[in-house]
Amino acid sequence: MLKIEGGVPPIHCAITVPGDKSISHRALMIAALSNGVCKITNLLYGEDCLHTVKALRELGISIELLPERCSAMVHGCSGKFRTPKRDVYCGNSGTTMRLLAGILAAQSFCSRLVGDPSLSRRPMKRIMEPLSLMGAKLSAGEGDDFPPLLVEGRKPLRPIIYRMPVASAQVKSAILLAGLSAQGESTVIEYTRSRDHTERMLQDFGVTIRRHGEEILLKGPSIPQARNFRVPGDISSASFWILAAAAQPGAKLLIRNVGLNPSRRAVLDILSRMGAHIRAMSTEQVEIGEPSGSIEITGVQLRATTVQGEEISNAIDEIPIIAVAGALAQGETIIRNAQELRVKETDRIAALTANLRAMGVRVVERGDGMEIQGKDSLIGARLKSFGDHRIAMAFSIAGLFAVGETIIEDTSCIRTSYPGFEKTLRRFSKGLIYQDLN
Ligand code: S3P
Repeated sequence: MLKIEGGVPPIHCAITVPGDKSISHRALMIAALSNGVCKITNLLYGEDCLHTVKALRELGISIELLPERCSAMVHGCSGKFRTPKRDVYCGNSGTTMRLLAGILAAQSFCSRLVGDPSLSRRPMKRIMEPLSLMGAKLSAGEGDDFPPLLVEGRKPLRPIIYRMPVASAQVKSAILLAGLSAQGESTVIEYTRSRDHTERMLQDFGVTIRRHGEEILLKGPSIPQARNFRVPGDISSASFWILAAAAQPGAKLLIRNVGLNPSRRAVLDILSRMGAHIRAMSTEQVEIGEPSGSIEITGVQLRATTVQGEEISNAIDEIPIIAVAGALAQGETIIRNAQELRVKETDRIAALTANLRAMGVRVVERGDGMEIQGKDSLIGARLKSFGDHRIAMAFSIAGLFAVGETIIEDTSCIRTSYPGFEKTLRRFSKGLIYQDLN
């Protein structure tokens, strides 16, 4: 449970955020597939990534964790994993289950992937279809869609040309990771671009992969070449503080060492369109092909906007905090084409609608989004997290802007992606983070 006293003291500080979740998962998996020892630094020590670590260990990979340095040494197996002795548990993490399924599709053994109750309600047909076309045998539980997911691997796999029916980086990545073991060129065609961390990282590990318009082509078979690298800060985690500053006239916030990958930064464009002054500076070294740098935010009274089309996939994990931005903006904010939110850690459209209404905001719920009437101030309320980390964090920030006290129930889910969130929130809400920007 989290209690937030409304009323934001002026934010004027510089912070950093933990390592990027998507990139941390991929770093662990691609290092495990590689032909040697890889040192990963600034790894996210969130529960989701720790489930990837445990799952890889169950598959025979030796990983030494150095938590005090947020780093890990991964001993690659050149693509040959060990038959697991038990079910491979993926916790709450869709990325762990879907990307691992791509790797396991190419092993010469059978494995069973299981998850927590939330993950057990998330669709898997989207990866089962392409991986079956490549020659693996997959079956699932209820409706042959939900976990547990049984993967009977096949070696070698067949390369495929796959047209993505939904914009999903997890599906694309599962195919590309399987494609490493296919005899020939695998092609993924994505009409709406999703985050491209897998493509960038595979390229950095020496795999022949290129993008040609909407097509991504990977030449198999290929073993990633071991190397060390550093994970940049997570822009999705940063987005909570970005809004906390952006919606507060006069606030100034600097976030250092954060990922600025073009397939992840639509949240900055959206908040800029809402009037916030945001400056992203890709000054820091490009790590593993991932641009990173600093973001400087100056707060204003926000105005409403419409978020739809291509932008949705780029900002998919930031829609909860963008909806909170809409509640604090002048006018009506419209979110459309976001039906994928219904199959995240919870149904995020329903969760956002319920919580915004509880805070006194007028919301019209649509199948693929919502219309939000901005308000001068929110009303403190007792809210559910719905077991979803991003809902819990988005409404903690909303609580800073509310009159009275806001209570968020069941906030242990925050640990999946952002250990340390509560500590930073406490410092923010008491105005204790105060550093000179110079
Ligand atoms: C992720 C991709 C996104 C995102 C998720 C992480 C990834 O899901 O919502 O939190 O790491 O590939 P999609 O597969 O729907 O793109």
